[in-house]
Parts: sequence; C-alpha cells; structure tokens
Amino acid sequence: MLKDTLEQGRILADSALERLLPPETARPASIHKAMRHSVFAGGKRIRPILCMEAGSMIAGARPAGIENLGAALEMLHTYSLIHDDLPALDNDDLRRGRPTCHKVFGEAIAILAGDALQTQAYEVLAMLNCPPMARVKIIEEIARGTGTLDGMIGGQVVDLEAEHTKPNLDTLEYIHRSKTAALITASVVSGGLYAGADDAAVAKLRTFGQSIGLAFQIVDDVLDITQTSEQLGKTAGKDTAAEKATYPALFGVEESLKRADALVESAFAAIASFGERATTLKELARFLVERKK
Ligand code: IPE
Ligand code: IPE
Ligand code: MG
Ligand code: MG
Ligand code: MG
Repeated sequence: MLKDTLEQGRILADSALERLLPPETARPASIHKAMRHSVFAGGKRIRPILCMEAGSMIAGARPAGIENLGAALEMLHTYSLIHDDLPALDNDDLRRGRPTCHKVFGEAIAILAGDALQTQAYEVLAMLNCPPMARVKIIEEIARGTGTLDGMIGGQVVDLEAEHTKPNLDTLEYIHRSKTAALITASVVSGGLYAGADDAAVAKLRTFGQSIGLAFQIVDDVLDITQTSEQLGKTAGKDTAAEKATYPALFGVEESLKRADALVESAFAAIASFGERATTLKELARFLVERKK
C-alpha cells in the first residue's frame, strides 16, 4: 500500500541519515547542528523512497544497504534546498516547517552546511555495499544529475536568470528538467544500478524518472499557488512574487495539471514491461502529482 511505502521508506531513510551524519556534538558543532536542522525537518524523502523502490523492482526485494544510497540522495537534495533558500537565490525564511538554515545559523554556516552535505553524500556513495563497477556508475550518474550540464545546478542558474522574463516552453522545460527532474532521475536510475539493472532496464528507469521528475516540478509550481504556507511548510506564493518561470505562469493551473497527468501516463508506459513488479513505482508516480505538499 502506498501509505506503508511512504511511511516505511521514510523511517528507513531517516535512520540511515541519523547513522551517516556526524553527531551534533562533533566539533565544529555549529555546522553539524545546521546540517541536522535542515535534514531532520520533516521532508517527504521522495528521492530515497523512489531509489529504494526502483532497486526493489529490479531485484525483486529491497537490496541490502540501499538505504545508504537513499540517504546520500537526501543529503544532496537538502543541500540544494539550503542553497535555494539563501538570500542570493530565492531568499526564503521557511523550509520544511522551520526557519531556513541561514535564518537560524547565518549565511556563512548555511552555505558551508550545504557544501558539507554534498561532500558527506559522496563519502557515503564511495562506501556503498554494491559491486565496485555499480558504485562508480552510481557516483557518475548522481554527479551528472546535480551538475551544470542539464543537471540541478544548471537548472538553478537558468531558473534565476529567467526571473522577470516571459520564458518560452523550451526554457521552462530546460529549467524544470534540470533543476528537479535530473536528481529524481538519478535517484531512480541509481537505485536500479545498485540492484544490478542491465542497460535496457536502466534506460526504462531513466525515461520513467524524467517523466515523473518533470511532473513533480510542475506540481510544485501549482502548489505554490493553490496551497498555504502552513500546508506547504514553505512560503506559498513566492513564485508569483518573484515572477519565476513556472508552468502555471505560462499555461494556468488546469492545463499544468493536465500536462503533469500526461507525464505520469508516459512514466507508466516506460515501466509497463516490469508488470506486477512496477506497481509500487506506479503508485508513487501517481502520488507525486496528487500530493498536497
Ligand atoms: C522541493 O522538493 C524542491 C523541489 C525540487 C521542488 P520536495 O517537495 O521533495 O521537498 P521536501 O524534501 O519534501 O521538503
Ligand atoms: C528548487 O525549486 C529546486 C531545487 C533544486 C532546490 P524551487 O525553488 O521551486 O523549490 P521550492 O519551491 O523553494 O522548494
Ligand atoms: Mg528556486
Ligand atoms: Mg525556492
Ligand atoms: Mg517551488
């Protein structure tokens, strides 16, 4: 059941994060407190859950130790959120229902906490309990997904540069595919690689990830308009205020949601050949567009 998948996935990811992040008491305590403040603030853990479920689909059962890979993905995602909220980027005060990292710890520590989560993630990846060739492929996949060429940082750059402009669909898709879909795709693909997926299976997981990743960001843009800050745990209405390039800005809410639904349908098609084993990933794909936060 979807509810169990989300709940058990969250618990697994959280205990791996607890184990893999330095304790708050370790010197220098300020940065470890800052890292934990942002990581343990109640995120949905979607990336680790997608990763673990992709691995389970390929292997037929959850591969031992895959939660460490999930935790590394969540460290990278949280780093991207800390930096996204900085005054120089989106300038946000609220994240995951808490004051943002820089509001509590100051900008310098927030920047360094983001950097530290990134380096910690690669240390964890280097020690993954899977065949060395898979480990190297996973590291390459994730580095690329978060980099500048069609990856998360590239998307963040164009997102900022497109503020106060009316973007065309090509630019808008570039932003969304890069800043968000690329890490979601890397999460699904790396989970598959960990479980020993062959090239054909990786290609299917990649298409699935690209579709649900784009749908995920379209829905993020819609929720920014339709939900309150209390519901989201982050400041609502920010995109309109900052004149961000979003799907609802270009197409309106209704058409944006239609596009997100169509993307979920093509995601389903990409993994249809896995039959029954694809059930949980399909449920997750549906959840990503129906979520309210
Ligand atoms: C928010 O991601 C940032 C985007 C890429 C849209 P999530 O909606 O997964 O945020 P958390 O992890 O649940 O807080
Ligand atoms: C951020 O997109 C994507 C990241 C790479 C962090 P947004 O700026 O829309 O994310 P939120 O709405 O602040 O979570
Ligand atoms: Mg942003
Ligand atoms: Mg933002
Ligand atoms: Mg947003």
